Amino acid sequence: MHSTILPLLTTLVSSAAAETVLGVYIFSRHGDRTAKSTPPSSLTDLGYAEVFTSGSYYRNRYVADDASRQIYGLNTDVVKQSQITASAPADAVLQNSAMGFLQGLYPPVGPTLGSSTLRNGTVVESPLSGYQLIPLEQVTTGANSENSAWLQGATNCANAQISSNNYFTSSQYLTTLANTHDFYNGLSPMINLTFAPGQTSFKNAYTIFDLLNVASIHNSSTKFPNADLLTPETFFQARTLADQHEFGLAYNESDPIRAVTGSIIAGEVVEALNNTITGNGKNKFNIQFGAYAGMMSFFGLANLTSVDADFYGVPDYASSLSWELVTNATVNASSFPSEDDISVRFYFHNGTTSASSEPREFPLFGTGRSPLPWNEFASKMGTFSISGQKQWCTACGNSTGVCSSSALGGGDASAGTSSAGSSSDNTGNGGISKAVAGVIGAMVTLGVVLGIELFILLAGGLKLVSKKRLARTTSIDSAPPGMGRGHVGAKV
Ligand SMILES: *[C@@H]1O[C@H](CO)[C@@H](O)[C@H](O)[C@H]1NC(C)=O
Ligand SMILES: *[C@@H]1O[C@H](CO)[C@@H](O)[C@H](O)[C@H]1NC(C)=O
Ligand SMILES: *[C@@H]1O[C@H](CO)[C@@H](O)[C@H](O)[C@H]1NC(C)=O
Ligand SMILES: *[C@@H]1O[C@H](CO)[C@@H](O)[C@H](O)[C@H]1NC(C)=O
Ligand SMILES: *[C@@H]1O[C@H](CO)[C@@H](O)[C@H](O)[C@H]1NC(C)=O
Ligand SMILES: *[C@@H]1O[C@H](CO)[C@@H](O)[C@H](O)[C@H]1NC(C)=O
Ligand SMILES: *[C@@H]1O[C@H](CO)[C@@H](O)[C@H](O)[C@H]1NC(C)=O
Ligand SMILES: *[C@@H]1O[C@H](CO)[C@@H](O)[C@H](O)[C@H]1NC(C)=O
Ligand SMILES: *[C@@H]1O[C@H](CO)[C@@H](O)[C@H](O)[C@H]1NC(C)=O
Ligand SMILES: *[C@@H]1O[C@H](CO)[C@@H](O)[C@H](O)[C@H]1NC(C)=O
Repeated sequence: MHSTILPLLTTLVSSAAAETVLGVYIFSRHGDRTAKSTPPSSLTDLGYAEVFTSGSYYRNRYVADDASRQIYGLNTDVVKQSQITASAPADAVLQNSAMGFLQGLYPPVGPTLGSSTLRNGTVVESPLSGYQLIPLEQVTTGANSENSAWLQGATNCANAQISSNNYFTSSQYLTTLANTHDFYNGLSPMINLTFAPGQTSFKNAYTIFDLLNVASIHNSSTKFPNADLLTPETFFQARTLADQHEFGLAYNESDPIRAVTGSIIAGEVVEALNNTITGNGKNKFNIQFGAYAGMMSFFGLANLTSVDADFYGVPDYASSLSWELVTNATVNASSFPSEDDISVRFYFHNGTTSASSEPREFPLFGTGRSPLPWNEFASKMGTFSISGQKQWCTACGNSTGVCSSSALGGGDASAGTSSAGSSSDNTGNGGISKAVAGVIGAMVTLGVVLGIELFILLAGGLKLVSKKRLARTTSIDSAPPGMGRGHVGAKV
């Protein structure tokens, strides 16, 4: 299968050159961070450098004057707010990652561009050599999703909770759990300061791998005795088991609600790209930061696993998915292409993107073709995407709170509640700390973008200048962690 795909992609790359790129949606993972098992996680200097590098790469791909795939009409140096939408959940690691990325995307413009002349003739320079401010919208994707593995991506969807719990009774899970006792016992001397014997099993495959991964990157000898036991083979085995565990929680072909996070991402992507089309290219650049779990759900839903088995694995830090809107039609100030002349190319890059390690193009939905015409892309995405509160409530089988018919404006949100009565709580873990408890609902994310925006100071030193709720703030006032506590500023 490999051999048929590679030539296809080679021809794709050459033919993409003459096209005009009209817009892009990027979904990125955060950079290197501290371990989940020692919350709160925070973005490390390495992680900051990773997302900044990726942001700089995407600048040279889409934004700069001489960008290789410059987006038509996108401002090259001074950011124009209406052209760009950046979002991240209320999570310090993800928000800081987004800021680091944006610093690379639109770096300080220097004293000339970054200054203006007042009426009285005084010239004012913006601070720090032309810092640029880009508002970061807040996605309600599981507050502190990198702090609590078991809650990664807001476990709010009833049917997805049930589905995730079913993973832990699946034969695949139980078989692996039984077969890996010895392996995990062998890891114990390295992780027993964090994981008690009862927690040292496949049940915590991801958090155990995460601890080893973080320890193998950073100096953490106090948390990580007997490091010499961690051979490359052992590490690979721990990673592979974590991949299996996380993919199992992210996607199950016969139970699509498990991949609800990927469905929400799909809905967001189509909506944003559709806005670019219907707005004749007004908004052009979308960047969302989110957890790997949603990526894996999308890989399953979009059948990318049939193209490359790597898609069964957890993407590395700072990985990014991108969807480009492209056309061969004429684009100029008075003519924006019609829907029928627009197509979509999908790219993925595993880990930090840079000039020496660029995104690869992949055909979506098992079609073996790329680009896909916009209408085909939108309708295929539509088979699994979820957008809007009402559709979410129906798919999740939730009917109370924000899903009550009064909250939904009288709509019928009761469909699919039949199984909601069964136990969906993660109550059976008595005594296990949240950080290392089972990864119940790990993949479930409610990705509704609230109109809550943080004003962040961009480029240079990640310094928070001001933050406030805008008038668009909705009534879903979940007082997200990170807001009002100076989280964003405090972490820098
Ligand atoms: C011009 O206006 C600015 C802002 O009001 C003020 O800070 C500055 O002192 C003024 N300059 C002069 C020369 O009046
Ligand atoms: C959906 O239902 C589940 C299970 O009853 C509950 O835990 C969750 O809070 C609900 N979500 C919303 C948004 O009401
Ligand atoms: C996938 O879903 C099916 C049907 O609900 C179930 O039988 C199977 O055990 C699930 N597999 C996993 C790995 O969760
Ligand atoms: C961890 O394992 C090592 C090696 O087996 C042992 O010496 C140590 O006492 C264990 N520590 C704890 C806290 O169990
Ligand atoms: C981390 O390890 C390197 C190499 O062993 C050492 O030079 C450095 O001082 C260590 N840093 C800290 C903070 O322990
Ligand atoms: C795009 O937006 C238009 C206008 O809001 C809407 O009519 C159309 O259904 C949308 N298309 C898709 C694929 O979402
Ligand atoms: C990303 O790379 C890791 C190894 O670094 C691999 O295990 C994983 O499968 C890859 N994931 C994807 C989606 O390519
Ligand atoms: C543009 O034309 C080239 C050359 O015919 C083709 O390979 C490419 O797929 C076209 N792009 C779109 C978006 O149709
Ligand atoms: C824009 O492109 C259209 C279609 O090719 C052409 O007819 C028109 O003259 C162009 N307008 C400008 C301002 O270049
Ligand atoms: C995924 O794509 C492969 C290859 O095109 C196809 O055989 C398979 O049926 C597809 N699976 C799904 C779930 O669409």
